[in-house]
Amino acid sequence: MAILSIIEIPDPRLKLVSEPVAHVDASVRKLMDDMMETMYDAPGIGLAAIQVAVAKRVLVLDVAREGEEPQPLFIANPEIVWASEELNVYQEGCLSIPDYYGDVERPSRVRVRYLDRDGKVQEMNADGLLATCVQHEIDHLNGVLFIDHLSRLKRDRVMKKYTKAARLRSEA
Ligand code: NI
Repeated sequence: MAILSIIEIPDPRLKLVSEPVAHVDASVRKLMDDMMETMYDAPGIGLAAIQVAVAKRVLVLDVAREGEEPQPLFIANPEIVWASEELNVYQEGCLSIPDYYGDVERPSRVRVRYLDRDGKVQEMNADGLLATCVQHEIDHLNGVLFIDHLSRLKRDRVMKKYTKAARLRSEA
């Protein structure tokens, strides 16, 4: 396994729509394993392939709390097949927008169909933090960031700040 580098805003690749995988083959499994290691190392609770600059519909998640058994989820080609009308607000963050957090409202429960690490079709019912996290990661596959759910004023302020920071880094 390998730790991959995570791209950050304003990298334009984060706006790409990722492509489905044809099969969960050895190369997709390797990507999943590397992504999981990268996510644990960061540390984070979810990571989409585009965040390591691979435009494939692949995610890894683990929302277990510290001290709990790990609950790694390897997901390809996810589809939300049902979402509750009831909404929930969580303060979200993102490994591609380090040290910034904001409240996002999303369906509180979802059912997701996906291919697992063995390429088998699975369906899971998610609620609580897992529901928020899987929706946040699926958004990444469609080029959507959690700041896109905030007001335009907040989003513009964040983009400006990170664009300036990236420019200063590149000039240093
Ligand atoms: Ni994210």
